[in-house]
Amino acid sequence: MKRTRVKELLSSSPGTTPVSAKGWIRTKRESKDLVFFEINDGSCLSAIQVVVDRSTAEGAQALAKSDLPRLQTGASVAVEGTLVESPGKNQAVELHATSIQVIGEAPSDSYPLQKKRHSFEFLREIAHLRPRTNTFGAVMRVRNRMAMAIHEYFQQLGFTWVHTPIITASDAEGAGEMFQVTTLPLEKIAKADPSRFKEGIDYSRDFFGKPSYLTVSGQLNAEIFATALDRVYTFGPTFRAENSNTSRHLAEFWMIEPEVAFCDISCNMDLAEGFLKHVLQAVLRDCAEDMAFFDARIQPGILNQLQEVVDSTFTRITYTQAIADLEAGMARGVSFDYKPSWGADLQSEHEKYLTEEVYHGPVIVTDYPKEIKAFYMKLNEDGKTVRGMDILVPRLGEIIGGSEREERLDVLEARMKELSLDPQDYWWYLDLRRFGTVPHSGFGLGFERLIQYVTGMQNIRDVIPFPRTPKNAEF
Ligand code: 4AD
Ligand code: MG
Repeated sequence: MKRTRVKELLSSSPGTTPVSAKGWIRTKRESKDLVFFEINDGSCLSAIQVVVDRSTAEGAQALAKSDLPRLQTGASVAVEGTLVESPGKNQAVELHATSIQVIGEAPSDSYPLQKKRHSFEFLREIAHLRPRTNTFGAVMRVRNRMAMAIHEYFQQLGFTWVHTPIITASDAEGAGEMFQVTTLPLEKIAKADPSRFKEGIDYSRDFFGKPSYLTVSGQLNAEIFATALDRVYTFGPTFRAENSNTSRHLAEFWMIEPEVAFCDISCNMDLAEGFLKHVLQAVLRDCAEDMAFFDARIQPGILNQLQEVVDSTFTRITYTQAIADLEAGMARGVSFDYKPSWGADLQSEHEKYLTEEVYHGPVIVTDYPKEIKAFYMKLNEDGKTVRGMDILVPRLGEIIGGSEREERLDVLEARMKELSLDPQDYWWYLDLRRFGTVPHSGFGLGFERLIQYVTGMQNIRDVIPFPRTPKNAEF
């Protein structure tokens, strides 16, 4: 019999045609003759209730007495039966079983996921089983929908998705936060395959003798393609060797980086605002059940909050204005651990204050002091600030960082000199300014931060399937 997924069963009408479902048991209870259990197959948040009446011949045949104890939370089962209107309030239909097969048991004395609610810390230790919980199932379905919405948005605007490399020799952010790539230690190579071992090669400085790293950003590669294909984006994993144990930092995270030719910072801000709204709308429309769960269990009010963002116009202020707002707050008695001062980077407490207390929503901050931003940002006429833009949101702070790029060869070279960057290392990047240079802009969105924002999940480790943090890289 063809199997139907639970999501489809739950929206089907009662009928006499036999149906088949497969999945994992979430809960079970029994009374004298009746056995109830719920199975979930990940197609949606809900589980379908299966009912067996063991007082009938059919029910007794479907479930032998000896099989009853094997119906445990976590066991995998295949059920056949018919859909019947449910007397319960929680679901419209339930499955009256005529055949039940336990495929794989999950002994209750050793299966770690019992019915009670587990802490996210505990679930991180069993990362191989946590997808079977309601919360992680919901996170993964929302994450999937968001990824598709991101592609839809850029594709509909005629962008080309460019697959940028993971191994690279250049530090796109100039911040020195890179993981170096090496081959196995010499002894291991020699042992595994002596013929691969060549005298005179420094294997600790691979790639083929030249130091190489895991990419921190695909931006510079994207600029190469934007100055040919006009509008492109990347969507892939990026790496930061920052030892920050916070709820918003990962060593490996996914980034989306659009890059657009003939586009200044104001066009860049419009693109980013339209982009965020498109993704939020898609999730609100297509993940209603999962989002209702986050609203009820994780972040009360999040549905309204996200809808308000979709309907709003983002506030746009300069960095100088942001500092003035923070100073005005201090004058009114607000206290910060780090005193805001012009020239210093905004701290997360400052971002929180601006988005939650002053502007009550997303804020785009532009024109930062050049000292606190990357070498490639376009210098303003004042010679002090650059056309960078960060998007800050309530609860999280920065989710997007971007800028108009410096397209003038002489200005870029002078800036690199100031920062002691070797132009030799970026000869190809400078060529883009030598040949057919054009004003262009782009930004990077941290995918996991946006998922946190949308779901209300507190810790970034809980919105990625396998978090890579200083202490966690097991599988
Ligand atoms: O602000 P960042 O460092 O900007 C860039 O990498 C630019 N090259 C982007 C561009 O213009 N194309 O990073 C961009 C975003 C941040 O706003 C943040 O959301 C996220 O990436 N991010 C991280 N997310 C999780 N863990 C980390 N360690 C992150 N570091 C940055
Ligand atoms: Mg940034």
